[in-house]
Amino acid sequence: EKQGFKHFMLKEIYEQPGVVRTGIETYIDAAWSLENNGTSPIRLGLAPDLLQGLEHIQIVACGTSWHASLVGKHLLEQLANIPTMVQYASEFRYSPSPLMPNTLTIGVTQSGETADTLAALEMEQSRRSQQPDPQFQARMLGITNRAESSLARMVPHIIDTHAGIEIGVAATKTFTAQVMAFYFLALELAYIRKTLSSERIHAIVEEMRQLPAQIELVLESQERYIEELAHDFAETQDFIFLGRGINFPIALEGALKLKEISYIHAEGYPAGEMKHGPIALLDAKVPVVAIAMPGSVYEKVLSNAQEAKARDAQLIGVVPLNDAEAEDTFDSLLPVPKVDELLSPILTVIPLQLLAYHIAARRGLDVDQPRNLAKSVTVE
Ligand code: M6R
Repeated sequence: EKQGFKHFMLKEIYEQPGVVRTGIETYIDAAWSLENNGTSPIRLGLAPDLLQGLEHIQIVACGTSWHASLVGKHLLEQLANIPTMVQYASEFRYSPSPLMPNTLTIGVTQSGETADTLAALEMEQSRRSQQPDPQFQARMLGITNRAESSLARMVPHIIDTHAGIEIGVAATKTFTAQVMAFYFLALELAYIRKTLSSERIHAIVEEMRQLPAQIELVLESQERYIEELAHDFAETQDFIFLGRGINFPIALEGALKLKEISYIHAEGYPAGEMKHGPIALLDAKVPVVAIAMPGSVYEKVLSNAQEAKARDAQLIGVVPLNDAEAEDTFDSLLPVPKVDELLSPILTVIPLQLLAYHIAARRGLDVDQPRNLAKSVTVE
């Protein structure tokens, strides 16, 4: 069943080009073009009134799904210009924000069974059902990998991420599939709200079509190197992951992957926050992984990485291919193809998944079934 892979996690990492391809084939209209753009390029099959006239979006999720939601927030705000809040489901259910009008509530859960996420959605649905003003009525959407799940039964609309069953406890392919779902949703909203020109939508869609081959390239070109690099961390106890903007959630996700399967303490931080505390942790024993992709914060992340280097940290960079500036800054490079900054999380997460996997495998740990964790957390 592992099809020659040593662990399900590695098999699932390798399934990501296919998962992204399936998402594109399922949700992007192949006939849509700049000449033929009278309808939306996105086919989510959602009821039209669900997305009309939105003023706010609020998202509830846990763990890796929460990280995908943070990427989603960035996309919904940047592409569709809708203020978006992302909450931990376990927090939202007991400390909900005041009710906002014309709000779409999205529950993101790959399993569709996470107790806190379901309870947060139930609470939201019930408090809105008591509101007489139609502006406050619940508009609920689920993003899930399980179309038959409790989530799918609870909310009237879902986006199915079609990643196939994920067995490894560490979420990998379901994360990229969730991020893809947010691209589709953000582009659909951008089309409806006319926040992007057809040319820009077309350019993003064309770049999205390149992603499967680009993920394949990262997997093929990096895995050996990352397996070797993992040897350096046999004794390492702490890691710091830095990112900014749309890649800040990827720093969080890289740290979570490492924590849950290798049991190494790891923290993800927005790179600009490092000087407000965590920099005190740095010395030669604490490797720093920085995600520095071309775009609005590239130079900023490089200079944050240099601050870490000045404290003797071993610096690992997730950087664009063939970039001289990055080559000068980092001790080890995990290059990915240059893409539009907004699409970069789909690529930057791949080497971090491989890094966590190889460090854990090298330590001889039970990668697919880490201690104290279950694939879906169905209790509070
Ligand atoms: O099924 P869900 O997406 O609701 O699960 C949420 C978290 O429990 C899950 O993402 C967890 O953090 C993973 N083990 C992360 O790899």
